[in-house]
Amino acid sequence: MDKQLYKELNKQVIKELYSAYLYMSMASYFDSINLKGFAHWMKVQVKEESQHAMKIYDYINERGERVIFEPIEKPPYEFTSPVDVFEKTLEHEKNVTKSIEGLVNLAKEKNDKNTENFLQWFVKEQEEEEENAFSVLEKLKSIGNEKHILIEMDVEMGKRE
Ligand code: FEO
Repeated sequence: MDKQLYKELNKQVIKELYSAYLYMSMASYFDSINLKGFAHWMKVQVKEESQHAMKIYDYINERGERVIFEPIEKPPYEFTSPVDVFEKTLEHEKNVTKSIEGLVNLAKEKNDKNTENFLQWFVKEQEEEEENAFSVLEKLKSIGNEKHILIEMDVEMGKRE
């Protein structure tokens, strides 16, 4: 595989692991304010992000390269509200989308059809990721200060599989 493409894919593994770390930090915030359903939602997200990392890990391996791990940045932990958390989630997912798009462009540039095809799964996944974060954020914004509706929403968030 092209060296630059390999390096960027390796970086994406670390970015996905950072995503898992970020969502763990958000889960911990929700647990600390007793919104267990929101915490559960974030913990499911943690699992998804680990799977994203492993999917790229396996692909790198299949192509005969080896993933080299780097330190993972400390995630933010001082959140001011559930809205704040989901604004940060949406912003983060938009950055991940950009990163995936960058990889697709690089794969095209390097004429690596295999990698380009492999990345299509992530392009679709990012659409979903942004949509999910956006829809939760919009619901949270519409709730305002209605505590009892937030509690109802917490129950719903706890049903994520
Ligand atoms: Fe792996 Fe949330 O992007």
